[in-house]
Amino acid sequence: MPGERALERPRMVGLNFPKGNQPITTQAKGGYAHNNGVPTVLIINGPNLNLLGLREPDIYGHTTLEDINRQLTALGTDLGIRVESFQSNSEGALVDRIQQARGIIDLIIINPAAYTHTSIAIRDALIAIEAPVIEVHLSNVYKRESFRHHSTIADVAEARLMGFGADGYLLALRAAARMIKAQREKREER
Ligand code: DQA
Repeated sequence: MPGERALERPRMVGLNFPKGNQPITTQAKGGYAHNNGVPTVLIINGPNLNLLGLREPDIYGHTTLEDINRQLTALGTDLGIRVESFQSNSEGALVDRIQQARGIIDLIIINPAAYTHTSIAIRDALIAIEAPVIEVHLSNVYKRESFRHHSTIADVAEARLMGFGADGYLLALRAAARMIKAQREKREER
């Protein structure tokens, strides 16, 4: 099952966070990512995705990021998953938010946007938090310019999904719910 290896890694807490940037919950217990035991998925969106709906709608569609986040929260409620969303145009802010997820979040769904093709910092942060990652892109980047064909996180991600437009996030959340459930059942068997 994709994601099992990453989900099985021991979760450690105790990283130093900048002041005013503390994680909301602290201790990972019993091997679960800890948000009072509620399975939690963090959705991260990178630069210019705040302009979805306005930006190049022929490529990225007419759905706004707000709409996507609303749909994700609603689907999360149906699936029994708590959804947290974060968007930034700044690489450092994205790294900070990913770090805060350590020991708290069960899985990250990320569209790093243009940073996909350049950011070693985001790659390193995703490795550091030891949670499974699903990489999402609205467009099929392989049908586009060659500089979009490289992803710094392709081999860090458990799975990659692209070309489904805004639906890609919802498909990823459904897959995430199955991955988290399978892993929790496996732990309970032990
Ligand atoms: C994108 C593809 C990237 O190449 C681009 O820079 C984006 C969006 C996508 O979702 O298709 O901003 O990640």
